[in-house]
Amino acid sequence: MPRLASVHVMAELDELATRFRDFGRSSAARAPLYGRLAPCIADEPEILELLGVAPAEQQLPVLLFAAVHHLVLRGDEPDLERFYTNLVGEPDSGDPFPTFRECCRRHSDALRALIATRSTQTNEVGRCSQFLPALGMLADEVGTLAHLDVGTSAGLNLLLPRYEYRFSPGGSVGGPSPVVLDCATRGGVPVPATLPDVGASIGIDIAPIDVREDEEVRWLEACVWPDQADRFARLVAAVELARQQPPDVRRGDAIGALPELVGEASAHGHPVVTNSWVLNYLTPSQRTAYVATLDDLGNQRDLSWIIAESPAQTPELPIPAASPGEDITVLSLVTWRGGHRVVRRLATTHPHGFWVHWEHRGTTRQR
Ligand SMILES: C[S@@+](CC[C@H](N)C(=O)[O-])C[C@H]1O[C@@H](n2cnc3c(N)ncnc32)[C@H](O)[C@@H]1O
Repeated sequence: MPRLASVHVMAELDELATRFRDFGRSSAARAPLYGRLAPCIADEPEILELLGVAPAEQQLPVLLFAAVHHLVLRGDEPDLERFYTNLVGEPDSGDPFPTFRECCRRHSDALRALIATRSTQTNEVGRCSQFLPALGMLADEVGTLAHLDVGTSAGLNLLLPRYEYRFSPGGSVGGPSPVVLDCATRGGVPVPATLPDVGASIGIDIAPIDVREDEEVRWLEACVWPDQADRFARLVAAVELARQQPPDVRRGDAIGALPELVGEASAHGHPVVTNSWVLNYLTPSQRTAYVATLDDLGNQRDLSWIIAESPAQTPELPIPAASPGEDITVLSLVTWRGGHRVVRRLATTHPHGFWVHWEHRGTTRQR
């Protein structure tokens, strides 16, 4: 592996090494493979320097791991594949690092090319389990919905009516579908008896993923941690489903695109904007502008907005935090009716939708 030139000083390598050690410590429980590899990588300048081609803020362990995973998914590294739970089920219990290091040596140019041009990107379909109860409440109130998912990535959460939900307790909704979303509930989640009627589904993203493009989909899959085999499997199944009838995903900025999209969607139902783990990518002033844009639109027509974001990371949003700096996914619903804005905190949720703990007491709904 030539060139240590792109990371110029030892201090930079030391900083990268620290990031890998910290990552290894903090993620070992959730990501045993990466947890084992990270401290070994921290001691290997040849591997650390691969990240030097990324912009400073992107020089993160997850970017290197995603790039290697991408090669494994492409079938370029059959020897390394045996350590990836998502691909083999029962991973090899031996030491993965020598094979990982060899892979980095053999494919250093390919890895640099990926690391220089990509940033980690996800699309978590499990989040549909948290959207569904809120959408059910809205459908009861206003009838047919027009769904606008802002920061939609590959648009997989626009396929919400095509998935099968198993709330426990709460029962099943939708399906049968090859994409089954299991969700543990607490606090009386108002699980709808049926899927809401959705007249239009449109997504917008500043860097959308086209589900028809193999390389783009592979990158999306590569960003899932291999030990999280359940997330990986449902992502693969959702992409497969999406390819049969690709979602309407458009390229654009959250703030600039919204007025036209809301106007377009309104012809097909009550416009409902959803955001999940998107607004933390905006700057504080962009978040303020985003809220102002929605307020403007809500003053012109009835509108609803479902937010699944962390209050700590998005303090400009009207998310009622339970405590200062609350850093957990909070599901909130903002409605504008006749120009009057109401904000309701509904639930806390698992960041990938594996559980929903309902808090809101203002709804009575019978299945
Ligand atoms: C963590 S992903 C979440 C994707 C999806 N909402 C989900 O829950 O799976 C964040 C997405 O927000 C998009 N994004 C970031 N800034 C944006 C902006 N200003 N306008 C539109 N999309 C943006 C990114 O490209 C990325 O696809």
